[in-house]
Amino acid sequence: MSATTTELATEQEAISFTPLHPTFMAQASRVDLRTVDDQAQLATIRAGMAQYGVLVFKGQSLTGQDQIAFAKRLDGELHRKTSSAVLAKNRYGDEALTDISNVGGNGQILDAEDRRRINGISNRIWHTDASFEDPAGRYSMLYARTIPPVRADTQFADMRTAYEQLDDQTKETIEGLHAHHSIVYSRHIMGFDFSPEEAARLPGAVHPLVRRFTETPRASLYLASHASRIMEWPVPEGRLLLKDLMEHCIQREFVHFHEWTQGDLVIWDNRMTMHRARPYDDVKYKRELTRVTTLDIARV
Ligand code: OGA
Ligand code: MN
Repeated sequence: MSATTTELATEQEAISFTPLHPTFMAQASRVDLRTVDDQAQLATIRAGMAQYGVLVFKGQSLTGQDQIAFAKRLDGELHRKTSSAVLAKNRYGDEALTDISNVGGNGQILDAEDRRRINGISNRIWHTDASFEDPAGRYSMLYARTIPPVRADTQFADMRTAYEQLDDQTKETIEGLHAHHSIVYSRHIMGFDFSPEEAARLPGAVHPLVRRFTETPRASLYLASHASRIMEWPVPEGRLLLKDLMEHCIQREFVHFHEWTQGDLVIWDNRMTMHRARPYDDVKYKRELTRVTTLDIARV
């Protein structure tokens, strides 16, 4: 892939993409996503997603409802079963608008020991959104409302390139395997436990380890820290495989970051990328983003 700007012409304002990394992630040309509602423009963005896996749209000005409406136009049905919904009532009154922040209902920064904070900082482990649900998440759209004065990046891993770079024997070994994804498992590893009642609402889900798509010929690994076991294998053996694959995918060459500016909307395809939040001084500075995630179901 060359580091040039790809232009995909549409009848309306043409949206073009400038690559941010040799294998994935691109920045979109200036466009106000509130006004993007014609099929050609939406198709251009979907094609950009299939090519780059992560798209950055700068300078947006979105209310929660604008963000939800755009997500529906782009990719249909929305996810509402988040882990934070199990812990506390949503600050925005709509479970489709996930509160990705270190701020409580009273507008104050959460205490270091607050369960919502501990749940939130678990975003710092490599994951894909809602892989512990079925249907899982397809596109996630994260919008920056308040950005701290220090770096608090999000990192992404290119899971298609990581898959392609596996040796043939590993590709053969993992073909046809399925992983169980559980947020109760991944949070437990982090030292955070849901109550039995909360855990009962988060039973986990089984997904293929290698994913293939209609919109691109490139296959991808589908992995997350939520992956607790390989269904076809004894538990310890499966965990070792998952650990090996995770180490492979997060090598430097497959990873890129996004440094946030207020007004950024970043869209990633959870089926072809992993991501994690980087640590920062979150008991000092507010960081408020909202995320809308679509359901990984057949497109109509
Ligand atoms: C998310 C997420 C990372 C971050 O919104 O799904 O993992 O940097 N966010 O806030
Ligand atoms: Mn996430």
